[in-house]
Amino acid sequence: MAIILGIESSCDETSASICIDGEIKSNIIAGQAVHAKYGGVVPELASRAHQQNIIPTVDQAIQAAKIHKNAIDAVAFTRGPGLLGALLVGTSFAKSFALARNIPLIEVNHMQAHILAHFIDDPKPAFPFLCLTVSGGHTQIVLVKDYFEMELLGETLDDAAGEAFDKTAKILNLPYPGGPLIDKYAQLGDPNKFKLPEPQIADLNFSFSGLKTAILYLIQDEVRKNPDFLEENLNDVCASVQQRIVTILLNKLKKAAQQTGVSNLAIAGGVSANSGLRSGLQALGERQGWNVFIPKFEYCTDNAAMIAIAGYQKYLVNDFVGQDITPLARMHV
Ligand code: KG4
Ligand code: ZN
Repeated sequence: MAIILGIESSCDETSASICIDGEIKSNIIAGQAVHAKYGGVVPELASRAHQQNIIPTVDQAIQAAKIHKNAIDAVAFTRGPGLLGALLVGTSFAKSFALARNIPLIEVNHMQAHILAHFIDDPKPAFPFLCLTVSGGHTQIVLVKDYFEMELLGETLDDAAGEAFDKTAKILNLPYPGGPLIDKYAQLGDPNKFKLPEPQIADLNFSFSGLKTAILYLIQDEVRKNPDFLEENLNDVCASVQQRIVTILLNKLKKAAQQTGVSNLAIAGGVSANSGLRSGLQALGERQGWNVFIPKFEYCTDNAAMIAIAGYQKYLVNDFVGQDITPLARMHV
């Protein structure tokens, strides 16, 4: 039997999870409301909140899994990518826990973990599969050949898809993180009301900065004509923005499927919680004859269950690290 404790602290969520023989028994997530009024994550405040949250979060995960902490066989933690100060809290905790209990330490790449969240529940994708990983910091199309054998086929040249949602929200005076709010209002609006541009990028890379500027100009123009424009059109603006972001993402995914001939398609990361992206992928998959994999909501945004499941796969092949390990703000899949 293998019991793995997973720790996630790369951004603004402190999370701990217990995985027993590949099954997730608990997944506790402590969010950080402190950032909402700043319109984005403030790194120093994130580190401090992680320090306050880490011990109670781990305790809760152990209790919820109904195990004793002495039974834990290994600790897996997010090494990166992410905010360095935030990563340091999880990394230091994991190192001390492993040292004190004399158990192995496992480093996990956060972006790989988002993808490996697909191995928590059934149905699990067969290799090879393509994964569109869309979060607040990244937008990638990854060819997943095996658990830890991943090839980056395309990525964003500027903003991430989550950033496009969050920055639009800021323009619309909505609090951070704006993605879930835009999703909520979009469901009540007309997605064809406002025309927004699709960037013409030849390869499998993305760009969202032009879209952000187009939205800003559209709002400024309309508000000049009608000061109540935003109040009167919020749902339609959100629906139009969301539809454009989703079509940009899905058109590239379709292109990647055509280029590689791979027909197992997955989405991962915070933006994979978006209702438009989920239903859009489902519909496209049916038309294209793809096997489509969409994570449960709780495994889309940052969580430690994905770290624990990735850690479990590494535990099976004795892929451990020493106490000299340090976090990395940048890491490739
Ligand atoms: O994966 P994640 O939790 O953290 C990072 O690793 O960045 O992703 C957070 C991002 C934020 O930009 C947030 O606005 C976005 O995911 N997000 C959404 C939705 N839920 C979260 N974007 C659009 N629609 C949603 N329902
Ligand atoms: Zn993430």
